[in-house]
Amino acid sequence: MNRKPQIAIFASGNGTNAQQIAEYFAEHQTAEVNIILYNRKEAYVATRAKNLGIEALYFKSKEFYENDAILQLLKSRGVDYIVLAGFLLKVPDYLLEAYPERIINIHPALLPNYGGKGMFGMHVHEAVIANHEKQSGITIHIIDNRYDCGTTLFQAHCTIAPEDSADDLAAKIHLLEKAYYPPVIEAFILGTPMPKEQNN
Ligand code: GAR
Repeated sequence: MNRKPQIAIFASGNGTNAQQIAEYFAEHQTAEVNIILYNRKEAYVATRAKNLGIEALYFKSKEFYENDAILQLLKSRGVDYIVLAGFLLKVPDYLLEAYPERIINIHPALLPNYGGKGMFGMHVHEAVIANHEKQSGITIHIIDNRYDCGTTLFQAHCTIAPEDSADDLAAKIHLLEKAYYPPVIEAFILGTPMPKEQNN
């Protein structure tokens, strides 16, 4: 049997995306989530990984930049792709070089708007609401050595009602992430067409 492409997920927080990706590939069998790596000890993603029966490993942010132990681990496990799912550290150059065009990120806004350092999670939604935007969305992209840059693979949109709060927007974004992040990862790995955005 052919070996399935192996994915390592990097996360920093709650881990809803990590869970959705793991569940998707448990069902679809086109790729496999090999390991979940996280850099905040208290991150709930660790509990999710345990519940999913996926190995999870904590690493210290400082050591991530000081040595390439994580790269050696990924290599020893045969990891082919890195998927960032709410991962808030900048990816070091040694990983970018080892995984050229093979590291994917999701950003909870329509890049290039509302990206860059400090723009993550609720900060993004609060800024979008404060600017009275009429729409937002998600961007799934290949990463390079800048924050929230690199080739865009896919975007999906949602409308913002005048009365929507940042929490309301976060809920809409999470629905888009759930619907699209796993199949976009799959299409990217398999080289098949990206999913079509459904009207909402
Ligand atoms: C997600 O909304 C993801 O798009 C965002 O963090 C959240 C993580 O949620 N990522 C960024 O802001 C990256 N700049 P999760 O931990 O429940 O998947």
